[in-house]
Amino acid sequence: MKHLFKTLCAFCFFASAVQAQELLSPNGELAMKFELQDGGRPSYSLTYKGKTVIAPSMLGMKLKDNTTLCDGMTVENVERSSQDETWTPVWGEENSIRSHCNEMLVHLKQDSHNRRMDIRFRLFDDGLGFRYEFPLQRELNYFVITDECTQFAMTGDHTAYWIPGDYDTQEYDYTRSRLSEIRGLMEASITDNLSQTSFSPTGVQTALMLKTDDGLYINLHEAALVNYPCMHLNLDDKNFVFTSWLTPDPNGDKAYMQSPCTTPWRTVIVSDDARDILASRLTLNLNEPCKIADTSWIHPCKYMGVWWEMITGMSDWSYTNELPNVRIGQTDYSTLKPHGRHGATTENVKRYIDFASENGFDGMLVEGWNIGWEDWFGNFKDEVFDFVTPYPDFNVAEIRDYARQKGIKMIMHHETSASIRNYERHMDAAYQFMKDNGYDAVKSGYVGSIIPKGQNHYNQWQVNHYLYAVQKAADYKIMVNAHEAVRPTGLCRTYPNLIGNESARGTEYQAFGGSKPSHTTILPFTRLIGGPMDYTPGIFENDIHKLNPNNNSWVNTTLCNQLSLYVTMYSPLQMAADLPQNYERFMDAFQFIKDVAVDWDHSWYLEAEPMEYLTVARKTKGKDEWFIGGTNGEQPRTSVISLDFLPKGKYVATIYKDGKDAHYKNNPQTYDISQQKVTEKTKLKVWTAAGGGYAVRIVPVASK
Ligand code: NOJ
Ligand code: CA
Repeated sequence: MKHLFKTLCAFCFFASAVQAQELLSPNGELAMKFELQDGGRPSYSLTYKGKTVIAPSMLGMKLKDNTTLCDGMTVENVERSSQDETWTPVWGEENSIRSHCNEMLVHLKQDSHNRRMDIRFRLFDDGLGFRYEFPLQRELNYFVITDECTQFAMTGDHTAYWIPGDYDTQEYDYTRSRLSEIRGLMEASITDNLSQTSFSPTGVQTALMLKTDDGLYINLHEAALVNYPCMHLNLDDKNFVFTSWLTPDPNGDKAYMQSPCTTPWRTVIVSDDARDILASRLTLNLNEPCKIADTSWIHPCKYMGVWWEMITGMSDWSYTNELPNVRIGQTDYSTLKPHGRHGATTENVKRYIDFASENGFDGMLVEGWNIGWEDWFGNFKDEVFDFVTPYPDFNVAEIRDYARQKGIKMIMHHETSASIRNYERHMDAAYQFMKDNGYDAVKSGYVGSIIPKGQNHYNQWQVNHYLYAVQKAADYKIMVNAHEAVRPTGLCRTYPNLIGNESARGTEYQAFGGSKPSHTTILPFTRLIGGPMDYTPGIFENDIHKLNPNNNSWVNTTLCNQLSLYVTMYSPLQMAADLPQNYERFMDAFQFIKDVAVDWDHSWYLEAEPMEYLTVARKTKGKDEWFIGGTNGEQPRTSVISLDFLPKGKYVATIYKDGKDAHYKNNPQTYDISQQKVTEKTKLKVWTAAGGGYAVRIVPVASK
């Protein structure tokens, strides 16, 4: 693969002669301007088709030595270059990705301290990325950032789709409001029974989706978050200016730096068509090429799991109630009395393996297989799991052999309970245990407050841990799907063994009181901008009370909405999360989950409006087969799409759609499956219920 930036020209000039530096995107629709404001203060602005997206916004850093890199700057020189390359992801929504941009590298000097800072801008047709770079220099060698002062000045009181700024969780339902309403709503409505409130009443997380009154869609996020804290945004709600807010360490410091070094990219994706936001590959394009030489062991995967039964409370992760007796490494579990509700028993796991194997799945996740779950959460317990010792009723070797014989790959579960020291201490042994027992993927989890105390989920120290776990996994040829980790920023390009993250409110909340029916119509515009999500779709039984009489939660979607998610919520790792016995009641609809692909040659975004609906078509990698998913939000609507993405020909489409009186609340399981002949000229019109959706599989007539 070529990784080429062609240098176009370089300007050198003196401070007194500084002109604004302008940069155009390859198609000329985006234009940005870098300028030094009075006092040598760096700033930038951005327009799209002549409309202002980012009004003049300040750039720079505050440092712990009470100096700043925000003023007193001169431009030493500006280098310009361009890139046009096509690269091949190991897995993805496309089999090849074009990265086409113009670049401007502004070299700044601060004479008062004799130090230098560069700002690199890359302008693509779909948006802007820029980052700070600190060349090796004596005057700025080790330094501590106490605040990053990057602004994103909005032009008005836009509509925002936001979740509160929080250092420990992203597992919120989204709120849609005007920027001016965030403060009031935030103060009134942090009712999620999760951990924290926002760091400020106008603090929000990225990827932040915005819509202007004149129809611009703007997405603010970051790319390539490495050795730096996660960026939140703090809104000045009088002037509608966001400023970056880095997640602090226990001392309140933000980032410990040593030059030469760079920050992550700050990204602004923009279009007047919401579908372009979903089609953007800017986040991936700003990440480094793959660093894993042999990627042959990395593979997309469709899996089931002994999981939903624990999440709903039908069964438990733990084996015994004999709590006070348990000490990891000292307790002989065979002497403890089982409570009889343990989910991960050899027998139960085999039942799931049978079902998964009969229905063509690749993988099987089992949670609660290892000792420690009696007392794993909430007590700042350092030595909580050892990741290698099974409960007495889970026979590792027997399950390994059974799964192998049935063609199923076991998926490991490492709940760390956020005890980072403990996990890092055990990591080599835990990964080796996986290799020895036929596991090539791990779902890791970081529930609870981070240990050591005072750390949080998204600061620099913790960000480094997540990457360490992924890099070390690569040494063992292990794929990672990390839950509760920092939200992704496209690092899966560089480390494609990072096949999934949760990092948002997943399906589990449908068993914890429910999520908004519109939730999955906003996630592709927010959380998924950074990379795939292990959302764990496929819940067919809405009434959780039927599974556990003590749980009255309701799954706020129709059954066909669940089917649509396999296409609209892109992930190389897709779970069929419900219980085998629930699928057995709807085997005709389950057929879609069996058929749907997990890796793609190409994707088309046919309809989209944040928090309302989206319809996506994808072609299976290496096969003449297409899938369509239409996910609808709260309002019933009719989706009208053209199949002109198909090559000329005759096809059969199998359509799974909501029954005519379907509704997520009172009639979610009614659906209609039909087949019809289609060509590239066909227009499909499909009604979708409130909280509904549809799914389509298309194959050439001959291969039906
Ligand atoms: C939270 C994860 O998101 C969920 O999938 C997992 O089952 C629990 N933690 C227990 O590890
Ligand atoms: Ca979670």
